[in-house]
Amino acid sequence: MSYGIDTVDSVGVVGAGTMGSGIAQVSALAGYDVVMRDIEPELVEDGFDAIEDSLGRFVDRGDLTEKEADAVVERIEGTTALDDLADCDIVVEAAVEDMAVKRELFADLAELTEPGTVLATNTSTLSVTTIASATDRPGEVVRLHFMNPVPVMEGVEVVVGEKTAEGVVDLAHAFAEEVGKTTWEADDKPGFVSNRILMPWINEGIRAFDEGVATKADIDRGMKLGTNVPMGPLELADHIGLDVCLHATETLHEELGDRYKPAYLLKRKVEAGDLGKKTGRGFYEYE
Ligand code: 3HC
Repeated sequence: MSYGIDTVDSVGVVGAGTMGSGIAQVSALAGYDVVMRDIEPELVEDGFDAIEDSLGRFVDRGDLTEKEADAVVERIEGTTALDDLADCDIVVEAAVEDMAVKRELFADLAELTEPGTVLATNTSTLSVTTIASATDRPGEVVRLHFMNPVPVMEGVEVVVGEKTAEGVVDLAHAFAEEVGKTTWEADDKPGFVSNRILMPWINEGIRAFDEGVATKADIDRGMKLGTNVPMGPLELADHIGLDVCLHATETLHEELGDRYKPAYLLKRKVEAGDLGKKTGRGFYEYE
């Protein structure tokens, strides 16, 4: 089987949340026809709201005209039916971080799409090989991991599963580049490059705060000014979502041992429902 980027016209996206809607947006902006699917109509609507909000920011700063922004939205079809992804040339899954859910989705996707359709997962930390093994086409499963917020972050991490075909890896890189991103590649090892290194950084920031090393503002300020990153660990945790950080850290802890043990305060905040920006309160408060 050969996998050419020239044969990709349509993109399926599973999940219309923060990541899924962002992936749908950048794909449509690059000129692809997109089918964005979530399980409830309201979630699909929320996805469109996020896309319109983000495109509005590009319009405000003069990077897009209103007409171009409208055309991007028009290229995206919303749906709750997984079957509507049957004719897509590449599908990117950005559903919940739950292995059982992802395995079931990939088994269904492999059945309903034609052989030759690349099936990509945006998983933060789960193994692409384990996801792929739920399908009868593991060679066509790859990880294509966008960063949050997808419309503005340049990097995409491509992860190669045990059985991923070389042509599929090449297509994953080429697709990410077509939607305006720059890629790097990692092996299918826990957390890959990005989250293996980012999550303990965040976790240690939370521990430092909990252990009274400094105020949260000074921890964030120190890391921003001291290492030239746009957000400190506590701000970034709020931005990503504390539940996402906890799940990723727990997966790493399970796979890699005690150096990844989730901070006590991270667990306590998730239990309290203070998940960061999305709930209006995490380490900081948001309107
Ligand atoms: N769409 C369009 N534009 C957006 C946007 C979006 N979703 N989000 C931010 N922007 C724009 C803003 O409108 C603003 O534009 P302006 O300069 O014209 O006003 C510009 O980006 C800068 O935004 P802000 O002024 O709000 O704030 P910042 O300068 O801090 O930038 C940020 C925001 C781009 C999020 C920056 O803080 C940043 O890069 N933070 C780090 C993000 C990061 O590390 N992401 C990776 C998370 S880990 C991950 O995704 C992996 C997962 O598996 C957990």
